Amino acid sequence: MNTKDKIIVALDVDSCDKARSIVKRLDGHANFFKIGLGLIGKGGLELALEMKKNGLHVFLDLKLFDISNTIESAVRGLCEAKFDFLTVQGDPQVVKAAVKGRGAHSMKILAVTFLTSLDRDDLDQNMIKPGTIEGLTVSRAEKAILAGADGVIASPKELTLLRKNLHCMEKIIVTPGIRPKKSVTNDQKRVGSPNEALRNGASYLVIGRPICQAEDALAAYEEIKTEVSRS
Ligand code: C5P
Repeated sequence: MNTKDKIIVALDVDSCDKARSIVKRLDGHANFFKIGLGLIGKGGLELALEMKKNGLHVFLDLKLFDISNTIESAVRGLCEAKFDFLTVQGDPQVVKAAVKGRGAHSMKILAVTFLTSLDRDDLDQNMIKPGTIEGLTVSRAEKAILAGADGVIASPKELTLLRKNLHCMEKIIVTPGIRPKKSVTNDQKRVGSPNEALRNGASYLVIGRPICQAEDALAAYEEIKTEVSRS
């Protein structure tokens, strides 16, 4: 797989028109896009369907969390559209219900471990048990994989450990918290460069603001690809 196929552009903008203009600007360059919660109330689902029809890969980042019956029916409804990836929270009962709802469809179920915007202090606030965030991420990922997830979402900081884990080593690992050279961190706390993430085993990189908030999304995207190819 070349670098182009490994970069997922997170369309975190405030309207579908803006998202469409970024997709158009990246036409022929990027082919994998993420639609998340920020666009869902503004026609994001319709945009995701439109992008699928146009032959693009779509990652629906809904981070679903609910009782099993609701998760199962939500996923059953979404997988008809053949989106490529869908996120659910990494709790094993949520993952199991999502996998049941997905049935024989091709959409991959990815489990969120710990958000890349969190650090240990945040986990304390959230009453998550003691331990390093890296260690807890691996445990959460392992449980999600054993519950049937096709892969996990994790920060660049946990990749090395995840790739050493018997249950996770062969699975899809999608990595947000990617910050190319010269980029600001924003609200992300567990970040890494695209090179570091790819070197340590990321299957895909999710990159949002460094591309979508750049003056020219294509120039920013190409600069990231150049940064990666120079490593
Ligand atoms: O702008 P930035 O590159 O930080 O965007 C990262 C994207 O990845 C956002 O859309 C965010 O919702 C998503 N994400 C994340 N951390 C996770 C899962 C998803 O940042 N653990």
